[in-house]
Amino acid sequence: MLLKQFVQLAAVLASAIPICNASALARNSRRQSTASKYVFAHFMVGIVENYTLDDWKSDMTTAMDIGIDAFALNCASVDSYTPTQLALAYQAAEEVGFKVFISFDFAYWTNGDTANITQYMQTYAGHAAQMQYNDAAVVSTFVGDSFDWTPVKAGTNHSIWALPNLQDPAEWSSDAQRSVDGAFSWYAWPTDGGNSIIPGPMTTIWDDRYISDLGNATYMAPVSPWFFTHFNSKNWVFICEDLPTRRWDEILTMQPDLVEIITWNDDGSSEWASGFPHDAWRDIYKPYIQAYKSGATTPTVDTEEIVYWYRPTPKGVTCTNDSLPAPNGIDLLSDSIFVATMLTKAATLTVTSGGNAAISVDVPAGIVTSNVTMGVGQQSFVLSRNGETILNGTGGLDIVDTCETYNYNVYVGSVTA
Ligand SMILES: *[C@@H]1O[C@H](CO)[C@@H](O)[C@H](O)[C@H]1NC(C)=O
Ligand SMILES: *[C@@H]1O[C@H](CO)[C@@H](O)[C@H](O)[C@H]1NC(C)=O
Ligand SMILES: *[C@@H]1O[C@H](CO)[C@@H](O)[C@H](O)[C@H]1NC(C)=O
Ligand SMILES: *[C@@H]1O[C@H](CO)[C@@H](O)[C@H](O)[C@H]1NC(C)=O
Ligand SMILES: *[C@@H]1O[C@H](CO)[C@@H](O)[C@H](O)[C@H]1NC(C)=O
Ligand SMILES: *[C@@H]1O[C@H](CO)[C@@H](O)[C@H](O)[C@H]1NC(C)=O
Ligand SMILES: *[C@@H]1O[C@H](CO)[C@@H](O)[C@H](O)[C@H]1NC(C)=O
Repeated sequence: MLLKQFVQLAAVLASAIPICNASALARNSRRQSTASKYVFAHFMVGIVENYTLDDWKSDMTTAMDIGIDAFALNCASVDSYTPTQLALAYQAAEEVGFKVFISFDFAYWTNGDTANITQYMQTYAGHAAQMQYNDAAVVSTFVGDSFDWTPVKAGTNHSIWALPNLQDPAEWSSDAQRSVDGAFSWYAWPTDGGNSIIPGPMTTIWDDRYISDLGNATYMAPVSPWFFTHFNSKNWVFICEDLPTRRWDEILTMQPDLVEIITWNDDGSSEWASGFPHDAWRDIYKPYIQAYKSGATTPTVDTEEIVYWYRPTPKGVTCTNDSLPAPNGIDLLSDSIFVATMLTKAATLTVTSGGNAAISVDVPAGIVTSNVTMGVGQQSFVLSRNGETILNGTGGLDIVDTCETYNYNVYVGSVTA
């Protein structure tokens, strides 16, 4: 089922964001949290209109398998099935021992919806499956920066820990008057703000600003493996490339209070998601999540594995039957095959990409992403140690030099013993 994958995100920031011109700020050393670390995943309720209790339970157990603690249930005000699906999600979570919380999507909700939002919080804040943090019910948003949580807290008979999405960390000082307890950043990809595309690799410049501006308040950091969207109104790719491991390495260094993966499921754009599994990324995420929660600076690998990802065509290929131009950002991408090696001991990775000569790379223990130049044709991966083959497999998709429509999603696969 497609929704059990980490699929690229197609939701966008709804409004323009002022660019913060501060240089990277040092982490505020006063900031100390004694609360536990949790990892959440953003879940688009708007595309699961017909989910059954079992569908919910299945997604939740898959998420629990890699250490995800809760789904942030992104809800739009306009979907008539929101109350039904929220009730099913809370029930399913209670039955499988998972947690959930609501993330109000302010592309739809407005500052005038206080009464309805309060009603949802009153209904769910004390639910057995509600995610609690510091003994208060977690609630979050997509945008909605200026919403005042004071009356919602006053109208709910259970404590609330409000972690709205702030589009600019500099908004924090004024947010303090809106009864918020921290902030969630949506900057999981290299950007100067808004949806601007900048060269990779991803840095922690935005996280550093949030952490500095928030002081002792809760910072919920975003993690995402990829971003591609191909619509009339939004047609771009962020420069992610090695992001599936790089971002987690950054998280382990920063040790933010909380982490939210964006996102668990797609926006339903089967045109570029179907036939492009992302499941193997969960194998990488699992040891990283475990390391983050234990405060470790590197992940511990128990089972050796290769996880690879690559696009279906080199960027120079012109697609012949697309009503839209090639996505913005592709000039900044490299034509590469990316391979994360998960190793208990150093080994040699050999990648043969299409007609290119085989390339061998010495890779250390742990989780490391290597890359080789993309070649058209079959992709093959061999891991050897002391002259002995340990893992050997071929990519699940051949790279081609023709296409009808642009697809800058990646095929993600693995080679296991
Ligand atoms: C849900 O089911 C209804 C009725 O069968 C159908 O019209 C609708 O398209 C379905 N929604 C989704 C997202 O599959
Ligand atoms: C808000 O609550 C009112 C009164 O219960 C209801 O009529 C309306 O449909 C609700 N709106 C949303 C967006 O939930
Ligand atoms: C809080 O309100 C909910 C929903 O109305 C209710 O089920 C619950 O019993 C209330 N809890 C307390 C402590 O009053
Ligand atoms: C953060 O510090 C301020 C001022 O010292 C204090 O009022 C507030 O309760 C603290 N918040 C948390 C979440 O610790
Ligand atoms: C181009 O795409 C359109 C829309 O998907 C399709 O109807 C048409 O058959 C395609 N043309 C060719 C030459 O493949
Ligand atoms: C590919 O690997 C080389 C060597 O480690 C590195 O310098 C380069 O930045 C990588 N390219 C990308 C796009 O990650
Ligand atoms: C990898 O497997 C393929 C197909 O079974 C085989 O032809 C090839 O010799 C193997 N390579 C190594 C290095 O073991």
